[in-house]
Amino acid sequence: YWSSNKLITVLSVFNVLLVGFQGWLGSIVVSTNLVAWIVTVHMLIALAILAITITAYHIAKTIGRPRLHKKGIVYVMTFIALALSVFQITIGTEVREKIDSVSSHLLGGYRETWVQQAGDIFANHRNLALLVLIVNIMLYALIRKGFYRHSIHQQLMSFNFLIIMLQIVTGIVLSYWALPPFAQAAHIVLASLIFGVQFYLLLNLYRSANVQGVRV
Ligand code: HEM
Repeated sequence: YWSSNKLITVLSVFNVLLVGFQGWLGSIVVSTNLVAWIVTVHMLIALAILAITITAYHIAKTIGRPRLHKKGIVYVMTFIALALSVFQITIGTEVREKIDSVSSHLLGGYRETWVQQAGDIFANHRNLALLVLIVNIMLYALIRKGFYRHSIHQQLMSFNFLIIMLQIVTGIVLSYWALPPFAQAAHIVLASLIFGVQFYLLLNLYRSANVQGVRV
């Protein structure tokens, strides 16, 4: 891609370096036995790697495509939904940090009490999920109004909505069934997917990767 768009190569090289750094940081997370803030930084860097990968992919897919001119409110709402997801993911990672400290304090025992002992940070995380849901319902309505059914935008938004519902279900399972490991894994994978899909939706508002069903 060097001849058609240098940014793709630059982003990809930077991403490889960032993955190396993330690997090193991961070893610190393990060797320091999950020092609280490093887990959050590690999660945010994982999201940055995802964002850079998606950006490079999107640029490559949309070379020569026209810019879309949509109402500002759609951009603003998508950005708010994305920023809120990043915030919720950060709070979620803090819940995890708190739960790790409770668990080591209790020497790994009384697992069914860990979530309850996570206190305010858990309550904030659970309540914020309601705001995430409301903002995404509003965004869904806007996308349905502004784009055709078969457009990539509506498809991404439907997928986004589905994952948010699953995320809330796994969150409830975590809270009321003493953190089953499968739900822990699903909860973090779904969180990354929500971020990825919303970020890709934002990029597609500027230039659509799929011209089917799109009004320029
Ligand atoms: C709607 C959006 C939500 C997002 C984006 C989200 C995201 C996250 C993330 C990124 C973590 C950290 C996971 C880890 O580091 O292993 C987390 C942890 C957690 N979340 Fe959520 N969450 C959401 C909703 C909920 C809801 C509705 C509940 C409960 C009713 C919930 C309960 C929990 C619990 C208990 C943990 C700690 C899990 C552990 O220690 O492994 N989450 N969340």
